[in-house]
Amino acid sequence: MHKLLVVDASGRVTRSVTRRLTRRFTEVWRAHEPGGTVLRRDVGLDPPPPVDEPWIAAAFADPAARSEAGRAALRASDALIDELEAADAVVIGAPMYNFGMPAQLKAYFDQVIRVGRAFGFDAAAAEPYRPLLRARPVVVITSVGDGALNPGGALAHLNFLEPHLATCLGFIGLTDVTFVRIGFDEFQDGRFRASIAAAEAEVDALAAALAAGPVNCLAS
Ligand SMILES: Cc1cc2nc3c(=O)[nH]c(=O)nc-3n(C[C@H](O)[C@H](O)[C@H](O)COP(=O)(O)O)c2cc1C
Repeated sequence: MHKLLVVDASGRVTRSVTRRLTRRFTEVWRAHEPGGTVLRRDVGLDPPPPVDEPWIAAAFADPAARSEAGRAALRASDALIDELEAADAVVIGAPMYNFGMPAQLKAYFDQVIRVGRAFGFDAAAAEPYRPLLRARPVVVITSVGDGALNPGGALAHLNFLEPHLATCLGFIGLTDVTFVRIGFDEFQDGRFRASIAAAEAEVDALAAALAAGPVNCLAS
């Protein structure tokens, strides 16, 4: 039985394009893997807390010497990392907010990208940083108001969402990342409708492939 982790980050619910596509992904994945488990992490509606002084002190302390208060400060982080480690595949709905990711999604990554759990650090090593998470497929569904921000567009140089997400994911070992892009939400014209149709087709194919893929991998 396989586990799909679905991370939603949009601040809106009723008209969210990314939620619509993560929902579709989940439905197709479930149809292909009826016995699978879907874990939902809605950072849009329930944002993780920002990291603070107790969190930082605990994260960088020797785990064996951590106080009860330190362990408590890391509880949310532990839960989010455990969930990510348990997932065989991950789908993330990531709207663009002000050229990057929403603050609530950044808060999620700040909790997850933790030394000793998600990456290793050795100041004396030739390669000081080492990812600690097992690679698993990650599908990131993005939506932007102006499609010119998507790759190949006139404003693509202002798209800090994709490189930031790819860097955060890759840093902890999640290097198998596929982007599905929607554009022109603010315009609601034919370009928007075309990008939705293309994204839906991509989502259907990816969800079917990921549901079937890990089963085949485990069987071989
Ligand atoms: C706070 C905020 C900031 C936004 N910033 C940008 C932006 O920098 N560039 C852009 O093209 N669209 C921007 N948008 C539009 C969203 O990216 C677009 O509406 C997207 O579809 C939102 O995802 P959702 O439909 O899942 O909520 C912004 C929207 C909001 C609410």
